[in-house]
Amino acid sequence: MSAGEAMVALDRLNKYFGAERAVNDVTLSVAPGEFVTLLGPSGCGKTTTLRCIAGLERPDGGDIRIGRQTVASASQGVYLNPEDRNIGMVFQSYAVWPHMTVFENVAYGLRVRRAPGHVIKQRTMRALELVGLAQLAERYATKLSGGQRQRVALARAIVYEPKVVLFDEPLSNLDAKLREQMRVELVRLQREVGITSIYVTHDQSEALVMSDRVVVMNKGVIQQIGDPQAIYARPANAFVASFIGVANLMQGTLIGRSGELCEMEIPLGEGRSPLRVSAVGGEGAAMGQTVILSVRPEDILVHLKAPETAVGNLTEGQVIDTVYLGNFLECRVRAGTHELGVQIDHFENLQPGQKVHLSFKPEHGLCLTG
Ligand SMILES: Nc1ncnc2c1ncn2[C@@H]1O[C@H](COP(=O)(O)OP(=O)(O)OP(=O)(O)O)[C@@H](O)[C@H]1O
Ligand SMILES: [Mg+2]
Repeated sequence: MSAGEAMVALDRLNKYFGAERAVNDVTLSVAPGEFVTLLGPSGCGKTTTLRCIAGLERPDGGDIRIGRQTVASASQGVYLNPEDRNIGMVFQSYAVWPHMTVFENVAYGLRVRRAPGHVIKQRTMRALELVGLAQLAERYATKLSGGQRQRVALARAIVYEPKVVLFDEPLSNLDAKLREQMRVELVRLQREVGITSIYVTHDQSEALVMSDRVVVMNKGVIQQIGDPQAIYARPANAFVASFIGVANLMQGTLIGRSGELCEMEIPLGEGRSPLRVSAVGGEGAAMGQTVILSVRPEDILVHLKAPETAVGNLTEGQVIDTVYLGNFLECRVRAGTHELGVQIDHFENLQPGQKVHLSFKPEHGLCLTG
């Protein structure tokens, strides 16, 4: 393969279940060694996409290429079986065989493929070393912790030295602490072995921490593809903005543009003049078009008195309540018809009903068109 060539390429992939379009024109290219995550709410088509790549579902439209080989093409009638695709898989339910040792669990796939004994031994031990289980090779799988079992599943997926490993929520059965630890270990292992990885999760922090690139999906359709920073800082639409982290979303109208910034007018309801804000984004939007302002809670400042110097966008509000969250305070503020979430790290004594001023910089406001 030459540089720049994809290891996995999906071209307008479609999969229907009856009338439901579970995967809707998904086009995606994954580079060799890349860690790409499919992220989205339950039922958005993540598993179905992965199963199409694995050869466990037959696409109704589009092509799938792995390396240089077309492994599925609806138009050409090509469909390779899973075992002919050189892919490893790790699923949520890490079914390890209880009547076998750790070694035998991992070696099993090589045995059924009739690999010679010395190859089986060498590859199995290498896989176990990579996942940190070499010491436990002779232990029965029933006598392992959840995290250790998950590592057996991982070793089983990489023992064939596949080009690509597919992961479907592999950590979701683990407790929170172990899950975080395994995230780090999995990424380290992935980097070390250089395996191209396609990972599925509905957990946004997992996706942001682990991935080179994140593919956000909703209802079978890709909403955005980007690196974690881009997905967080520049969500492509209101769905991505609210699914990744927390965002305050307010509908308004585009009324002007100057340089990088666009001017928006946000109605605040009866008795309040509309809020005028400057924000970034809004590319392609026409004057007078309905747009959505997105501002993250951590980007809004709370002032007890009206600020005397320029602070960017400014509005008045009334404290609804505050919640203490350990390292910061989360405050809900009513501004006209809107309820805004604000994150505060300095501990003002804010009382419900208290009048406050809210500000955010233009570069922290994002104008979205859908
Ligand atoms: N075998 C099937 N038969 C019929 N419908 C299916 C089948 N598999 C999935 N679906 C439907 O296709 C859609 C996508 O399902 P999929 O399992 O890909 O979602 P997902 O993103 O993996 O969700 P989750 O986060 O809950 O695992 C859902 O509406 C689901 O009900
Ligand atoms: Mg799923």
